[in-house]
Amino acid sequence: MIKMKLPLIFTFLLLIFASCSSEVRTGQVISPSGTNEIYFELSNDGTPSYYVMHEGDTIIGRSALGFEFKEAAPLQSGFRMVAAKTGSGDETWEMPWGEQREVRNHYNELLVELEESESPKRGLHIRFRSYDDGIGFRYEFQPQEGVDSLVIMEEHTEFQLTGDHTTWWIPGDWDIYEHLYSTTRVSEIDALSKRDHPNLASTYIPENAVNTPVTMRTDSGVHLSFHEANLTDYAGMTLKVDTESLRLTSGLVGSDRLGYKVKRELPFHTPWRTVQIASTAGELIDSKLILNLNEPNKLGDVSWFTPMKYVGIWWEMHLNTASWDYGMTMNEDGKWVDTGQAHGRHGATTENTKRYIDFAAKNGMKGVLVEGWNTGWERWIGFEEREGVFDFITPYPDYDLKELSGYARDKGVEIIMHHETSAAPRTYEQQLDTAYQLMNSMGIHSVKTGYVGKLIPKGEYHHGQWMVNHYRKVLLKGAEQKVGINAHEPIKATGIRRTYPNAISREGLRGQEFNAWSVESGNPPEHLPIVAFTRMLAGPIDFTPGVFDITLPSKPESQINTTLAQQLALYVVIYSPIQMACDLPENYENQPGLQFIRDVGVDWDQSLVLNGEVGDFVTIARQERGSGNWFIGGITDENAREMSLNFDFLDDGKTYNAILYKDSPDAHFKDNPTAIDIEKIELTKNTELTIALADGGGFAISIIQAGE
Ligand code: NOJ
Ligand code: CA
Repeated sequence: MIKMKLPLIFTFLLLIFASCSSEVRTGQVISPSGTNEIYFELSNDGTPSYYVMHEGDTIIGRSALGFEFKEAAPLQSGFRMVAAKTGSGDETWEMPWGEQREVRNHYNELLVELEESESPKRGLHIRFRSYDDGIGFRYEFQPQEGVDSLVIMEEHTEFQLTGDHTTWWIPGDWDIYEHLYSTTRVSEIDALSKRDHPNLASTYIPENAVNTPVTMRTDSGVHLSFHEANLTDYAGMTLKVDTESLRLTSGLVGSDRLGYKVKRELPFHTPWRTVQIASTAGELIDSKLILNLNEPNKLGDVSWFTPMKYVGIWWEMHLNTASWDYGMTMNEDGKWVDTGQAHGRHGATTENTKRYIDFAAKNGMKGVLVEGWNTGWERWIGFEEREGVFDFITPYPDYDLKELSGYARDKGVEIIMHHETSAAPRTYEQQLDTAYQLMNSMGIHSVKTGYVGKLIPKGEYHHGQWMVNHYRKVLLKGAEQKVGINAHEPIKATGIRRTYPNAISREGLRGQEFNAWSVESGNPPEHLPIVAFTRMLAGPIDFTPGVFDITLPSKPESQINTTLAQQLALYVVIYSPIQMACDLPENYENQPGLQFIRDVGVDWDQSLVLNGEVGDFVTIARQERGSGNWFIGGITDENAREMSLNFDFLDDGKTYNAILYKDSPDAHFKDNPTAIDIEKIELTKNTELTIALADGGGFAISIIQAGE
C-alpha cells in the first residue's frame, strides 16, 4: 500500500540579504529533524554556490556550480535570482521487493530560480533537497527561445571537503568499475596509478578522478558518501580530485566519437548529485536517499518476477573446466557452422543443464542460469570485429532450449537467459525484439546481460550518455516483455529500480569471478567489508556468493580469500533479490552448510545493520517477507575478531530455534578456510552472544520461526 501525503506545497521564501558588505543573496533548506542544512548563495557578480552543515558543523564548504557548453557561453556566473521557493515532501512507498517493505521519503526542498542578468537571459533552476540522511540537488535547464538542444562539454559541480578525510575509492574509470578499493586520505588519491590493470577487458582512466559511490570518514567520525541518483539520458559522473585544495569536481564521462559529454533537448534536468551523511558507517547502509530521489514505480504490477536463489552453468567456465563456446566456425557468409570438430568441453549442454535443474529443484532454488547456450562465443574476447557475431536466438546444436524450459517448468524451476553482447550494443539492439519475445514465449522472466570488452563503436565508453541510453532501452524492452535485467559490466545503479523494478540486480564491481582467475586478481578479505559501504549504497549486487570448494583444486594457483562461513554470511550481508549459489552442484554434495543457502531468504520486510566499520567488518540482520524468519550475516576483513551481538529486535517473550554457522576456532581464510562449526542454539530477545570470526571469516544465523 502506498501512503501519499500532501503533494509538495510551495511557499515563497523571502530572500535573506546578508550583511551589506558582501551583498550575498542566500537561501537555505534544513532537513526535517534539523540534521542537515543546505545554504545557497549568489555572490554580487551572480556566481552561485552552496555549502552544507551537518549538526551545526560545515561538512561541505562553499562549492561552485555550473556548466560549459559547445557553441554557447558557460553558465557559471552573471545570474540574478528570480525566485527561491521552498517546499517539502513526506510519503511512504512500498518496494515490490527489497531490503525493506516500506520506505519513507521525507525532505524539505529549496528551488532556486536563476536567470542570466544579460542577454540571452538563459534560465537555470537548481533544486536542493535536504534529508536527515543526506542531501541532493539537481540542475533544471529551462526552455530557451530559438535553442532546441544543449551540448554539455563539462559540468562543474564542486564538493569542497572540510578535511583530509579517510577515503575508500576506486578510480574514475570510464569503462569499468571492477577495481579493488584503495583506502587513503583524499590528498593521497592517485587514480592514474590504477591504469594498466590486468584482467580488465576494457579500462580507461583519463584523469585523477574516482567513481561513485565514494565513501569517506572525517576525523571526527562523520561518514559521507558521494553518488548520483536517477542517471537518465546523461553521462555518468566521476569526481575529479584536487589533492591540494581537497575539492571534488564532477567529471562527466565523455564520448570521443561525438566529441562531447552530454547532448540534450531543452528543457531537461540532470541526475541528482547526492551526499549521504551519517554518524555511523551502518547508517549509510540504512539510508534510502538514492531511491527516494528517483521517481515512483512506472511499471505497476511486477508480480511476474519473484526474488529467487539460483544456480548456473557459470563457475565451471571461470574455473576453465568447461567452455562457453562449442567449437563452431563462421563461414564466408557470416553464418556459424558445425564442422563436426567440436572440442567437447562445451558447458551448456542439454544434459548438463538438466543436472543443474535437478539440483535447483531438489534444493528449493528457483533459477538456473545457462551461459554459453547461443552461437558466437568462438569470437568473444580479443576480437576487434564483434558486430554481428553473437546471436541471441540460435542455440548451439547440443542445447535444446525449448525442451529445457519445459523440463525446468515441470520441476518448478525457471531458466535464466544469458546475453553476452561482447560490448557490441548495436548488434544487441537489432535483436532485442526477437530475443525478448523468445524469452517471453518460453516463460523466462529474467536475463543476465554482459558487456565485456572495448565498446563498439570506437570512442564510446560504458559509462557515457550513449551507453546510459542503451542500458535504459534494454530495461524498457525487458519491462515490455516481463523480463527482469541483471546487467554485468553495467552502468552503475542510481536508484532506477524504484521507477523500473525490473532493474533487479547488476554487477558493477569486482565480483566473485576474479577469485577464480589468478592469485593476483583474487579479492582480498577487506574487499567486501568495503563494498558493503560503497558499491552497495547504489543498489543490489549480483556478487554470486556460495563457493564451498574454497581452495579451487582445479586451479592450484587460485583460492577464495574468505572462509566458508563468510561465504554463507554474504547471502545476508550483500543485498540482491537474486542470489546465486555459484559453486558446482557436486561441491555442495554432503555439505551441511548448504542448509543455510536452502533456508535463507531473498526478500525482506526489514533490514538492520547491527555493527560495522568501513573496510573492517559488518553484520546485518534481515527479516524475510512472508515467513517472518530472521537471517543474520557477519563478515570480517583479514583480522580475526570477536563480535558481541544482542537480539533485541526479536519479539518479546518468544524463544526461537536458530542455527549458527561459524568459523571453527582454527579456521583461517588461507590455511583452513572450510573449517566450520554448525550449532543449534536457542535465542530470545535477551540473549547475548559472542561469536569469534577467523581472519577473513564470518558467521551466519538462521532463525526459523517454529510452526511456520
Ligand atoms: C562477465 C560476467 O561478469 C561474467 O559473470 C560472465 O560469466 C562473463 N562476462 C561472460 O558473459
Ligand atoms: Ca564482470
